Amino acid sequence: MPETTPKGLTRLAFGGDYNPEQWPENVWQDDVRLMREAGVTMVSVGIFSWALLEPAPGAYDFGWLDRIIDLLHENGIRVDLATPTAAPPVWFYREHPEALPVTADGVRYEFGSRAAICHSNADYRAAAANIATRLAERYGDHPALAMWHVHNEYGVPVSACYCASCAAHFRRWLETAYGTVEAVNEAWGTAFWGQRYAAFGDINPPRTTPTVGNPGQALDYRRFADATMRENFVMERDILHRLAPGVPVTTNFMTALSQCDSVDYWAWGREVDLVSNDHYLITDGRRTHVNLAMAADLTRSVAGGAPWILLEHSTSGVNWQPRNPAKAPGQMARNSLGHVARGSEGAMFFQWRQSRRGAEKFHSSMVPHGGTDTRVWREVVELGASLGSLNPIRGTRTEADVAVLWDWHSWWAQNLAWRPSEDHDPRERADAFYEALYDRHLTVDFAHPEADLSRYPLVVVPALYLMTEAAGDNLKAYVENGGTLVVSYFSGIVDASDAVHEGAYPGALRDVLGLTVEEFSPLLQGEHVRITGPDGSELSGDVWTEFVEPRGAETVWTYADGLTAGRPAVTRHRLGEGTAWYVSTRLGAEGLDALLGRAAEDARVAPRADLPRDVEVVRRSGDTGSYLFAINHTATDAKVPLDRSGTELLTGERAAGRLAVPAGAVRVVRLDG
Ligand code: GLA
Ligand code: ZN
Repeated sequence: MPETTPKGLTRLAFGGDYNPEQWPENVWQDDVRLMREAGVTMVSVGIFSWALLEPAPGAYDFGWLDRIIDLLHENGIRVDLATPTAAPPVWFYREHPEALPVTADGVRYEFGSRAAICHSNADYRAAAANIATRLAERYGDHPALAMWHVHNEYGVPVSACYCASCAAHFRRWLETAYGTVEAVNEAWGTAFWGQRYAAFGDINPPRTTPTVGNPGQALDYRRFADATMRENFVMERDILHRLAPGVPVTTNFMTALSQCDSVDYWAWGREVDLVSNDHYLITDGRRTHVNLAMAADLTRSVAGGAPWILLEHSTSGVNWQPRNPAKAPGQMARNSLGHVARGSEGAMFFQWRQSRRGAEKFHSSMVPHGGTDTRVWREVVELGASLGSLNPIRGTRTEADVAVLWDWHSWWAQNLAWRPSEDHDPRERADAFYEALYDRHLTVDFAHPEADLSRYPLVVVPALYLMTEAAGDNLKAYVENGGTLVVSYFSGIVDASDAVHEGAYPGALRDVLGLTVEEFSPLLQGEHVRITGPDGSELSGDVWTEFVEPRGAETVWTYADGLTAGRPAVTRHRLGEGTAWYVSTRLGAEGLDALLGRAAEDARVAPRADLPRDVEVVRRSGDTGSYLFAINHTATDAKVPLDRSGTELLTGERAAGRLAVPAGAVRVVRLDG
């Protein structure tokens, strides 16, 4: 069994991407001195260093890496050592120009940025295997080595390549998946528009076509591209395992960022020894701490509930958004500890020292351009001390209340062209339902639609258009056995090939929901419908409506206007020991809260009306005890009721009754008992 925790790391992880090659060696001494001052415990080294480590084919220069790893070791700092395979050197491309990826339009990318890689390219694979081997041979038993960081963020910025090598690899992948070309024709429905293939050799990647291409082909290409990147990860991982047994292997994910939706992290989570994640605040006007919580919950879920590591986030602003606000005082600590509350074994950053040159020089870092007489540095030092006091939480697990279903294959399918409405964004529904649960102070586990759900009283399906029959059966059994299910519109419509399930919509969910949908009736932009509840309550929906026909379900809210007036908008179906709710329009925050309120009653999930909005309360527990995290995202002091007394770890004070959490502050109570 491979190791699943960083070797020799006896503290929470605290540090960042460290790129010493961007600095003269005299700065390194200053770096390690400051790292010690801040309480840094681990840094990620060598992520983009291939060109320095192998300056010419087969010629290696490990001297500088030897020196920096030794220096870190002398200073008690653990090393997360990268394989630099996200950044092949220019000589590699000179020899193998066909390793540069090609877009669907047939444009070959140029060298000069990073991660320009065709993952099916045999020369790339050989060169990546070689440099990983060299690193493992040289550093595999170095006492500073804590873990391996393979590559960097698979899936960005290139999520698929459409070159000739990928075409050949795709055909092989299809042959393995389908066996015969007839089976491909059947799955993709190539009878449509005369797309029938006579042989595997005729099939190409879904390159640019005059109008919409075959959706089955496009969906399979996403699966193929994901699997191809994973092949390369597994190749490197196996080399590292063989040459450096006992050192865990990770690669940094980006779980809940829609910028990186091309990777099926359920599958990747099974391949890494230890899950790690990168998260950045997307400042689009929404509450950034909610997306952060969602990313952390999703990462933990991908890790199967096990502890994981936040490998990158930012001390303050980033540099790649149209507008990059700085973080407010205290926000970095709330962010870092927000991840820790939800299962991260520490908080690491991009990056240690802010670059003077290159594309990321305006990205914040732990040591800013302004040096140590800066707010950011003072907050970094403070965070290091906080993480030091939280050491006892290591190895404990976050406790979740409810589950939300999540499936990258469904996102891929749903984002294909020509759907009933382009205003329906499945990720928006996932975010909105998550936010509604967050506002009810419920901690969410994400689950694959075919996973065992029996431990959750409440399961939410935000919008899972693609759902296998097995997933439908799973949800039915869950409800029959007493679960409460909430399903949003346009779920359970197609099977794994993007073929509509036979019979009336929603094929995979008809039985469990006790209804059929005769027709979708999306709304025009800006159009709203009113829906009224039994108690006279009125809510509003937009984007989507449906002609729902109850077949066992009762109507709870009814459309009051629009084409669907008089028809059910929200239904409830008693089935076996449980209940299944269905909502056929897009509800706003108020509507979702009302719906989830009713469902929570069915599920007997107690409301946390005693907790103020935006005061996040999460628990981790395990062998060393039970820990309550309270994060106050508001500008007002708050009180959080404790059901047990305990010791607050950041202040060392005793806490009982109602825990004071000052405006913007974080408190972590180790509960007695
Ligand atoms: C990603 C990368 C880093 C850096 C940061 C900047 O997460 O992994 O190398 O580019 O973004 O936010
Ligand atoms: Zn390619």
